[in-house]
Amino acid sequence: MPSYSRISGTGSALPGHKVSNDELAADLATRGIDTSDAWIVSRTGIRFRHFADPGTTSVDLGEQAARRALDAAGLQAQDIGLIIVATSTPDMIFPSNAALIQGRLGVAGAAAFDVQAVCAGFVYALAVADQFVRSGMAQHALVIGAEVFSHILDFNDRTTCVLFGDGAGAVVLSASDTPGMLAAALHADGRQADILCTPGRVSGGEIAGSPFLKMDGQAVFKQAVHVLEDVAREALAKAQRTPEDVDWMVPHQANIRIMTHTAKKLGIPVEKVVVTVDQHGNTSAASIPLALDSAVRSGQIRRGDTLLFEAVGGGLTWGAAVVDY
Ligand code: ACO
Repeated sequence: MPSYSRISGTGSALPGHKVSNDELAADLATRGIDTSDAWIVSRTGIRFRHFADPGTTSVDLGEQAARRALDAAGLQAQDIGLIIVATSTPDMIFPSNAALIQGRLGVAGAAAFDVQAVCAGFVYALAVADQFVRSGMAQHALVIGAEVFSHILDFNDRTTCVLFGDGAGAVVLSASDTPGMLAAALHADGRQADILCTPGRVSGGEIAGSPFLKMDGQAVFKQAVHVLEDVAREALAKAQRTPEDVDWMVPHQANIRIMTHTAKKLGIPVEKVVVTVDQHGNTSAASIPLALDSAVRSGQIRRGDTLLFEAVGGGLTWGAAVVDY
């Protein structure tokens, strides 16, 4: 039985429409909503985000990212024994995005399901896939984060609509005799569901409650800086590593202030933090695999590097993982 799982390939996808803060501010001004590039950059670090058109879905983006990750791993879709998609913006109530992507890839047989842990979803999905691979239940697993948050944004709410973007990222996790995924730590506090939620549901053929994302930004900010340092230290301790061992921190890309604050508390130099929030905004469960794939393809992250993933999201959910790439 294999002892470990390793990342054997990465991929990502972004929808074509890249929107600058100035373009978004001009569009919002036509609705009487006042915002600016200066406010958005100073509070969040975001300069651009990609928006999918209404006909482009998280399955479309997830499929593209998955195909690129398979290519990078040198594998075919039929080699995959497990597909997990982390998403809060699935195409359908059911079937899962994982099943829909499996169908697009033209294969059958492998287990396929979605994980719903909002912005922490990719770390959750990676930890689950690692268990499957290490236990011998799957030789190769596709782990995908895919989101179209623009479809659930209220463009009359400037406190949220400037923060998010669309995209997908994927990794192939493969059985290995040498260590790859070293440790993960996952947590949730459902008592704080109200501070970040999209409360709508379908009932009787209608949407009951709001279908738009709502967030108490300050409450999430306070929780984020509190939990991220702790969970990163927990995962590092489980992996028997220290912050000094981390070559690259690949955090959930929500806000540059949260990312650099967490790095500083851990004693990780900010130069070792992979930053794509300026280009992509917050793409929720897609943000870590998107940032990872960007850094792998740009040559920043190399084989043998030790990576720290960490994320917090609606639920609240939060988690961290330590990986030898
Ligand atoms: N443009 C201009 N002004 C704005 C905007 C905007 N887009 N949005 C809010 N403001 C105003 C507010 O109305 C407020 O004005 P007032 O002082 O006159 O009342 C002022 O700016 C300050 O607002 P704050 O909410 O205090 O701004 P803050 O510095 O807290 O930044 C932000 C807000 C960016 C949302 C921050 O709180 C944050 O990043 N929170 C964490 C979000 C996060 O990390 N989420 C991760 C999980 S996401 C997920 O799981 C889906």
